[in-house]
Amino acid sequence: MSAAVELFSTRFANPVLLAAGTCGFGEPVIDVMPPRAVGGIVTKSVTVEPRRGHPAPRVAEYAEGMLNSVGLANPGVDAVRAGKLPWMKRNLGGLPAFVSVAGARAGEYAHVVGALDGEDGFLGFELNLSCPNDSHLGGRPFCLDPDALREVLDLVRPLTERTLLVKLAPNDPDIAATAALAVAAGADGITAINTMPGFLPGALNGASLGAGRGGTSGPGLLPVGVATVREIAGAVDVPVIGVGGILTGRDARAYLGVGASLVQVGTASFADPRCAARVARELEFGT
Ligand SMILES: Cc1cc2nc3c(=O)[nH]c(=O)nc-3n(C[C@H](O)[C@H](O)[C@H](O)COP(=O)(O)O)c2cc1C
Repeated sequence: MSAAVELFSTRFANPVLLAAGTCGFGEPVIDVMPPRAVGGIVTKSVTVEPRRGHPAPRVAEYAEGMLNSVGLANPGVDAVRAGKLPWMKRNLGGLPAFVSVAGARAGEYAHVVGALDGEDGFLGFELNLSCPNDSHLGGRPFCLDPDALREVLDLVRPLTERTLLVKLAPNDPDIAATAALAVAAGADGITAINTMPGFLPGALNGASLGAGRGGTSGPGLLPVGVATVREIAGAVDVPVIGVGGILTGRDARAYLGVGASLVQVGTASFADPRCAARVARELEFGT
């Protein structure tokens, strides 16, 4: 089951990738395993300017998962171009890698893609469209605003011939329609899903974030992610990448069974940095 996957004119050694924001630029991978133990990686989301992120604490666990308010902390596009991409090229042995891109305005996505497209060391971009949009509808995420989503793709698509993934959010009343819109505007694939907006008062489980609210991830997100992938796969004819709550091969199989071509492992890598490799083995040999 977990044999190599040919997709986007690329060979993925297995269908299990590391999710954006949970593996940096691949540094934790080479610390603990050969890069080819996973199918690929998605980098931390890259913005135009360096971002320090939100105040601590940035993560809080609860029984079914985790809340995080990391806040897109990243070194900014210039440092990624000068340092991170050359490092990835030197150290990841050609592992398929997507650079995740984020911004507060549509033009910022174009800036990051335009600045990185001419460089080596990665396969494509994953547009994180779950970020608040500063110029439309009072900060509503891009992917929940069809005009803003189209605006990003209209700007970015002409800038690159690389694979362009669009990552959607779970709190979308019609995620299949949003995915179809993204594909019509030029997306080569859809990644679903990002974290779910969440809040827990400090009195509950001791979970309280420096930024107040956060994104919910981990096992509790599994049925939400599988349901959205099922809807999206029925609505578009491009590959769908499933992410949310994967801990085991059986979880990954749930996504593949409803139409995902690849999956990503996020939160589970914090407890066990080799989790994605184990999930790939379990897919192949059964659990
Ligand atoms: C600490 C943390 C940081 C994250 N940072 C990003 C990010 O920079 N860009 C992005 O698109 N998603 C980010 N995500 C979302 C994950 O990529 C993934 O979509 C989500 O956590 C659901 O998968 P999981 O349940 O396996 O963690 C982050 C998640 C966590 C937990």
